[in-house]
Amino acid sequence: MTVAPEELTFSIERKEDTLALGVSLARLLRPGDLLVLTGQLGAGKTFLAGAIVHALGHPEDEAVPSPTYSLLIEYPTDPPVAHADLYRLGDASEVELLAPEDLRRRGYILLVEWGEGYLPELGKDGVHIFLTADPRRARLVALGPRGTELIHELQKQTS
Ligand SMILES: Nc1ncnc2c1ncn2[C@@H]1O[C@H](COP(=O)(O)OP(=O)(O)OP(=O)(O)O)[C@@H](O)[C@H]1O
Ligand SMILES: [Mg+2]
Repeated sequence: MTVAPEELTFSIERKEDTLALGVSLARLLRPGDLLVLTGQLGAGKTFLAGAIVHALGHPEDEAVPSPTYSLLIEYPTDPPVAHADLYRLGDASEVELLAPEDLRRRGYILLVEWGEGYLPELGKDGVHIFLTADPRRARLVALGPRGTELIHELQKQTS
């Protein structure tokens, strides 16, 4: 693990490492938080989202599928989660149809794959997580003060 003020990088070679990161994040996430998951096809965005959703109480024997076609899947966890995949969207006005800021105001934790082109529409703040498959890494970058706070708390929890 390397540390910088508003950035934190984890090596997540084994699936267990990604699951553990999901558990650590889930402990810290609060209603309305935003995580943007960025990385190539197969980088592990859906896998990490699944780890978080399961850690928040979604039954282990129920999958967390990719929302590529449905665009957004809601989970009645505590707090509730909205998991979106914006890969197939054409432009920002389509993101607004999903009302991401409204979901956050209503207390949903918002997990978004392929959201890097739509940061203003997703609302301010949160954490941008950059995933790579070779080597498998997660680099967390704060998008604002709440993101910084989350990264500091995660650093304390995992060091
Ligand atoms: N350490 C690891 N962390 C996460 N996933 C891993 C790891 N090792 C292997 N995998 C595998 O890598 C794949 C990651 O696929 P996933 O669907 O999460 O990628 P994605 O980034 O969501 O891709 P897409 O852009 O298609 O949505 C899964 O099949 C998972 O089992
Ligand atoms: Mg995916």
